[in-house]
Amino acid sequence: MDKLAIIGGRPLYGRLKISGAKNSALKVMVASLLTDKPLRLTNVPDLADIRQLSTLLQQHGVDLRRDGDDMTLHADTITSTLAPYDLVRKMRASFNVLGPLLAREGEAKVSLPGGCAIGARPVDLHLKALEAMGAEIELDEGYVLAKAKNGLKGAHITFPFVSVGATEHAMMAATLADGETILDNAAREPEIIDLATCLIAMGADITGAGTPTITIRGKDRLEEAEHAVLPDRIETGSYAMAVGVTAGELTLENARADLLGAAISTLIECGIEITEVENGLRVKKNGGRIKGVDVVTQPFPGFPTDLQAQFMALMATADGASTIKETIFENRFMHVPELGRMGADIHVDGQVASVRGKPKLKGAQVMATDLRASMSLVLAGLGAEGQTMISRLYHLDRGFERLEEKLQNVGALVERVRDDT
Ligand code: EPZ
Repeated sequence: MDKLAIIGGRPLYGRLKISGAKNSALKVMVASLLTDKPLRLTNVPDLADIRQLSTLLQQHGVDLRRDGDDMTLHADTITSTLAPYDLVRKMRASFNVLGPLLAREGEAKVSLPGGCAIGARPVDLHLKALEAMGAEIELDEGYVLAKAKNGLKGAHITFPFVSVGATEHAMMAATLADGETILDNAAREPEIIDLATCLIAMGADITGAGTPTITIRGKDRLEEAEHAVLPDRIETGSYAMAVGVTAGELTLENARADLLGAAISTLIECGIEITEVENGLRVKKNGGRIKGVDVVTQPFPGFPTDLQAQFMALMATADGASTIKETIFENRFMHVPELGRMGADIHVDGQVASVRGKPKLKGAQVMATDLRASMSLVLAGLGAEGQTMISRLYHLDRGFERLEEKLQNVGALVERVRDDT
């Protein structure tokens, strides 16, 4: 199995291109199921999760072609409305095929995704939203059996708390429902706006995406469209923090400050200089240590849970103490013991991690536990003394495109090594 070897302590200089957002690309790919016309996407990252979803969509009958960052998906005929366990369990975003299949074909059988390392992650809000639109739903042997023989109907849905996936799921299904659907307490993440932009290009009638109330007026059919996936805000924040744990100056091409919400002001408060430049962001840190700053993860525009682990690596060498509160997922501190192996001083009490910054961490052998936790170990390794060896790299490959190449190009000593022990 591959490992990542990092020799820490090198400053980072140069230009680094931010890829298309994984969590946006996955949803707009699913949107292709809503029409029998082609959907052309650009800026699609080449990641394990994207390949996984491609396999599922092909299994539903989507003719999917990839050429570099471009992808064309054409669901002329849906050949199967079954999403099997083996394809859904590996990636939760696959569950979102349920609504579009149901809206277009009047029925679908989709495996429940199950929990995952960062928490139980139920799908009750997704199912309640579809039921409110008239779907009959049964659970049987780990599968959701959904029927809407006379089509879905517009509904007024108020989510009890903010869910990105449920908002996206309901929004997609509502584009083909009969009448108007109103989603209240909707998620406001940039990926929601991106999905709405894509659906509108396909002919959907959607207003309010990016606000807590989204209104969708259903159409009989959606049409051919083209859409460019927005840049990955989590990759942007992660590389900005890479400058924070080392030193140097990076130009993050394609990065957009407006996608980062509270993360931008937090990083600036820590002492990382961030300026908008043409087509990107310039991120700079001179010698000296980052300042300890407290954060609480929140739905957008709050500090994103998907940057929490990386931020903890940054705080591990900050000047001063900080607290990091995780409010979105119940088990998203698995990186803590691994950072501890590198000498970090972190104490967890329930949802709160208290971090006492140290001048330096020391390289060690560590294990990636989930996607974003893996990136926190990469950051810790870039800033540490000596060599860090990270195992279970498949987590990183799910969500960070060409990570070693991007880091090597800006001066980091990072190498993927084969380890047969
Ligand atoms: C999306 O997950 C992202 N995944 C996650 O990124 C991200 O961490 C999360 O949004 C929050 O920003 C994708 O877009 C593919 P939620 P999602 O529904 O949609 C609970 C990454 O590393 N909940 O907003 O699944 C849920 O358990 C991943 O790229 C219910 O209880 O997140 C969680 O505690 C990890 N019932 C909270 O709501 C439901 O029906 C928010 O989850 C749905 C969610």
